[in-house]
Amino acid sequence: MRILGIETSCDETAICLIEIAQNGTGFRILGNTVHSQIPEHAPYGGVFPMLAKREHEKNLPIVLERTLAEASAHGVTMKDVDLIAVTTGPGLEPALWVGIEFAQRLAKEHQKPLVPCNHMEGHVLTALIAKDAAAGDTSQAEAFRFVDAPTPALSLLISGGHTQILVIDRPGSYRIVGETKDDAIGECFDKVARTLGLAYPGGPKVSKLAAAARAEGVESPEPLPRPMISSKDLDFSFSGLKTAVLYLVQRLKERAPLSDLDIKGICRETEDAIVDVVVAKMRKAVERFAAQSIVVGGGVVANRRIREALQTLADDSSIPLLLPQFDHSTDNGLMIALAGYFNKEKALPPGDERLAAIKATGTLPLGPRA
Ligand code: KG4
Ligand code: ZN
Repeated sequence: MRILGIETSCDETAICLIEIAQNGTGFRILGNTVHSQIPEHAPYGGVFPMLAKREHEKNLPIVLERTLAEASAHGVTMKDVDLIAVTTGPGLEPALWVGIEFAQRLAKEHQKPLVPCNHMEGHVLTALIAKDAAAGDTSQAEAFRFVDAPTPALSLLISGGHTQILVIDRPGSYRIVGETKDDAIGECFDKVARTLGLAYPGGPKVSKLAAAARAEGVESPEPLPRPMISSKDLDFSFSGLKTAVLYLVQRLKERAPLSDLDIKGICRETEDAIVDVVVAKMRKAVERFAAQSIVVGGGVVANRRIREALQTLADDSSIPLLLPQFDHSTDNGLMIALAGYFNKEKALPPGDERLAAIKATGTLPLGPRA
């Protein structure tokens, strides 16, 4: 089975074509293109929805062409595709609509079934695959096998738009047990970065300066709060941390311009505050739900400090930690192709009336709030 996954929920225009192995134990990537709009959004200090929409419209045909050009090297063309998968939420609605309409047109033109997919499920699934070196594949296509997460699994999804803890009771069954009440983790990193004068997206820059501060023994001029760290629930709030940094920076600037040492120290303390809260909540959740594994997804997985802290938690609890490989942690088309595969029974065949009713849902939840 060959699945074409289309992703346009935020600022990446991405399409991936995968081929599921005959025995269903894995797949190979036949074509994969991710076009990031970061340079276009950087001047705005964040993703600007209407600009994202225009960029997706412009880039989708090019991204499809490039993906199919890669697939043609494996002898596969659009007519060999069995299923088209598209993100319908959560995300920026104007951006989602572009992907949906593109997928609807493509499905009609080539008479292929279409399956609506949840972006967050895609993030979960990128952690449930592993590179398959022993695939015996001579075609040079990247091969992966599916990995089972022992259940109940606890999933932590951390990106620029989301911060959620989910319980996966069995594959495909999700319950939201914790989420942010305001800013997402990546958003907090990015906003703190902005306050410190670092360019968008600042998350990786904060993390890099934090590492330098640790190596050099640089401390923050003042401690920062760990919001909601002691609350009994599994919810988060990061807007207070962002504001605390803003006030601290304002106070420091009254005395003198912000120094490089101040910036480094604040980056370190911000990262420590975020990691402390995430790990405290995850530790609580692992105990509460007797989790048998931890599954992490989303762009902030790129943060080394969070990964290391979660590995320690998993080791302490004697359960496995499943993470996506780096280039699969940020938004991509592969995650949607995988979501399409695991939801193939929900695909709408060509001509189905419900195809026209597929709609973008900015706040689409992956499961009920438990
Ligand atoms: O999943 P993603 O690509 O897009 C969304 O769906 O939001 O996540 C991007 C987010 C940005 O906020 C970015 O600053 C953050 O992930 N990020 C990081 C790191 N790398 C990316 N945050 C902290 N440390 C990093 N190393
Ligand atoms: Zn995402």
